[in-house]
Amino acid sequence: MKRLRWIIGILLLVTVSTIAVFGLMQRPAASAMAAQKTDTESTRTDTTASSDDSLSPSAAGVAASANTASPAPSSTPVPTTVPTPTATPTPTPVPKESAVMTGTQNGGIDWYGGYADPRTISPEIIADPEDVTVLVNKYFTLPDDYVPELVLADSSKNQSIRPEADDAWDLMRAACETDTGYTLYLCSGYRTLEEQAALFSTSISKQGVEHAISRNAYPGRSEHNLGLALDISTTAVGSISYSFGDTKAGMWVSTHAYQYGFILRYPQDKSDITGYVYEPWHYRYVGIDLAATLYASGQTLEEYYGKMQVLPDEG
Ligand code: DAL
Ligand code: ZN
Repeated sequence: MKRLRWIIGILLLVTVSTIAVFGLMQRPAASAMAAQKTDTESTRTDTTASSDDSLSPSAAGVAASANTASPAPSSTPVPTTVPTPTATPTPTPVPKESAVMTGTQNGGIDWYGGYADPRTISPEIIADPEDVTVLVNKYFTLPDDYVPELVLADSSKNQSIRPEADDAWDLMRAACETDTGYTLYLCSGYRTLEEQAALFSTSISKQGVEHAISRNAYPGRSEHNLGLALDISTTAVGSISYSFGDTKAGMWVSTHAYQYGFILRYPQDKSDITGYVYEPWHYRYVGIDLAATLYASGQTLEEYYGKMQVLPDEG
């Protein structure tokens, strides 16, 4: 009996020892698994953040919420619908009622026969010459370095104009030919500042100041420098002419030009406002919307902007 108790005691001791040793061996393995699980999640989080860097903010947002909803990592970013940009409507210039062109900032303008000498005016520099509706005249000048994008115009002798005006020129010319049988001709389109300066000074020296300043713009203040002016004739005539306005083609253009985005820039009886004599050949591209507005109202560009020329006091 004493021997049996001794054997049971030894068996109990061996069993307890075995359990204790086995338990010690298992504990580090469980810790290592727990640590490994944490590293895997950490790595997955870093990978997702790194991928999101190359996504658009909205796509990154969707990818992040997808990860929250489903723990399974996804190597393919969740595609998102990119909203189609909405075209920003071209703002219609709002005419100002109070602003006028006075030139008083220059201490006074010299006048010749009712025409202002641009050499005595300090003009305002035009902020956005790319806007086809901008006002260019004796009081508003283009920046010195402005050179527009240009294309060679058809039905001309190496004349260039801005692409938007050229598209309209092609359409108007085709329609005029269909309606009248006459082909329009572009006598003069874009001019460099140097070309404009030469015209201006030659006109002064050959024709006198009054003649020059009522017909030729100072360099930088001509719509020809803007690339949106077209001096129009017909292929049959081939040069600018005061009688153009009375011809079948000229009358057609004066009636239909607005449908293509052009305005007659220096109309009869508006010299006090524009600063120039009537030029039946000089059309300016302003875009169809503004051209239609001005055609309907009978306004010049100066009147539309409320920037009419202010004549000197008489007496
Ligand atoms: N003939 C117009 C005024 C110009 O020279 O631009
Ligand atoms: Zn012209």
